[in-house]
Amino acid sequence: MSALFQPFQLKGVTLRNRIGVAPMCQYSARDGIANDWHLFNYAAQARGGAGLVVIEATGVSPEGRITPDCTGIWSDAHAEAFAPIVRAIKSFGAVPGIQIGHAGRKASANNPWEGDDHIPTEDPRGWETIAPSAIPFGGQLSKVPREMTLADITRVRDDFVAAAKRARAAGFEWLELHFAHGYLAQTFFSKEANQRTDSYGGSFENRSRFLRETFAAVRAVWPEEYPLTVRFGVTEFNGRVDEDLAESVALARNLKADGMDLLDTSIGFSTPENTIPWSMGFMGPIARRIRTEAGIPVASAWNFGEPNVAEAAVAKGELDVVLVGKAHLANPHWAYEAARTLKIEELSSVLPPPYGHWLGRY
Ligand code: FNR
Repeated sequence: MSALFQPFQLKGVTLRNRIGVAPMCQYSARDGIANDWHLFNYAAQARGGAGLVVIEATGVSPEGRITPDCTGIWSDAHAEAFAPIVRAIKSFGAVPGIQIGHAGRKASANNPWEGDDHIPTEDPRGWETIAPSAIPFGGQLSKVPREMTLADITRVRDDFVAAAKRARAAGFEWLELHFAHGYLAQTFFSKEANQRTDSYGGSFENRSRFLRETFAAVRAVWPEEYPLTVRFGVTEFNGRVDEDLAESVALARNLKADGMDLLDTSIGFSTPENTIPWSMGFMGPIARRIRTEAGIPVASAWNFGEPNVAEAAVAKGELDVVLVGKAHLANPHWAYEAARTLKIEELSSVLPPPYGHWLGRY
């Protein structure tokens, strides 16, 4: 019996299997508003059989977008644009999720196929970036951010809260706060990026403060029956993996106490230098450590896009949910292909009946 194709219940939500489509920016919105591209992209991935579809990093404010072409959810019109996408995902049997975030010092960038670098200051498409400290990321993203004031911190927290409310109004049933990948929240946690001397910098408690306050404020408005999750880079892979993981376990325990339902374990990407041990399923043992030591359900992406690797990650107790990214771009029916590889007999349980019913016949 396949572990990957067992349902997964979290709060009042049940995924039909353990496969999630990882959040993946489409760089195809105008003024942050989702459109037909997003509808067809996400509907196709839901149709392919995954239990969960998480919509891309969506800005809680215009300045929080990674690029000018990223989606946003800072007005009712933005939320309404997501409603048909939510309906489509549900009609194909997947749970509709969304990742909301603020890109911090990595914001105001050109999209990846137009340079992946900061938009020049004089270009009207760009905007001022903000971060815990006035320290640039480096490399292609070398624009110096403005150090956030306490009023900025409160404003961004409130933007997360408003975005969460709008996400629920649009019908989303799974919310992921993007606290990973060197974006704003991850830089608050980073000892390198955060050089603040006030209560938001320095000690573990202080570096956690923005994350925990923002999480708690969202928890207060996000309904209990729907999962509230966090994507967090549990290590930077820059020579201090054990130290990073010890802090990440402590943070995960604290966020669990604050009401977090699942941690999507990822990579920090707060500095351009890292030594990531790329191999199939390499995040599995790391995720299992968080899962065991913090006592929290976990998900992870990064190189799980082969059916036997994804299956093993769940069977070994490394992951509760396997996030599959690029393999879903290559084949939106990846979950169906995985079911065939793993010899799932009842294909109609993987694809919606108008497809699944027929595929084992004649
Ligand atoms: C990503 N990734 C990503 N991560 C995230 O947290 N929010 C996002 O919006 C995006 N956007 C994005 C766009 C594209 C085109 C890619 C390829 C990736 C990272 C993604 O969620 C995932 O972690 C990686 O793709 C690794 O998983 P795979 O591809 O090895 O299965």
